[in-house]
Amino acid sequence: MKPTIQVHDKHFEVLIAQHILEERIADIAQNLNEDFAGKKPIFLAILNGSFMFAAQLMKSITLDCQITFLRVSSYQATESTGKVLQILGLNESLTGRDVIVVEDIIDTGLTMIEIKRQLLAQAPASLSIVTLFQKPEALKQPIDIQHVGFELENKFVLGYGLDYDELGRNLADLYVLCE
Ligand code: XMP
Ligand code: MG
Repeated sequence: MKPTIQVHDKHFEVLIAQHILEERIADIAQNLNEDFAGKKPIFLAILNGSFMFAAQLMKSITLDCQITFLRVSSYQATESTGKVLQILGLNESLTGRDVIVVEDIIDTGLTMIEIKRQLLAQAPASLSIVTLFQKPEALKQPIDIQHVGFELENKFVLGYGLDYDELGRNLADLYVLCE
């Protein structure tokens, strides 16, 4: 039996070990180094979930580049307008810039679709999405994602930056909820 850990009331087991995650992240960085050779992109990492992925990714990026950290806050406005997503922490114009969004996980995709819509309003030269994880079965609308680290089954995961009710972000491996 695989060893399990408990976070809050639930049990989790390792799904992807740290060294596998980090080998894949180095590959993604290599692809980005090639795609953006000669350019000066700005990386926008979405907090909190992407902090560990972003840190690991940036260690293998050899481009002249900027990195900044954003937060998205989502709140229910009215019944009719539904959820409103606000991007916090962007103090820089993206007009004419090569923008690379760094996300931990794309699940339904609704968060990323809204982030993209707001960033595209600033007329960047290009906008690329890099996500460490994606759950293809959970996607609600099609979305162009340039780099996906790992495609996952539609199960809850935590660790490597991802949380279960704010715990587990510090775990160095990716864990999945036990059946
Ligand atoms: P959507 O559905 O808009 O959601 O693509 C993206 C955000 O939802 C969170 N999320 C998860 N967090 N384990 C987590 O710890 C998961 O399995 C999971 N699925 C979605 C995450 O914050 C992401 O930014
Ligand atoms: Mg979360």
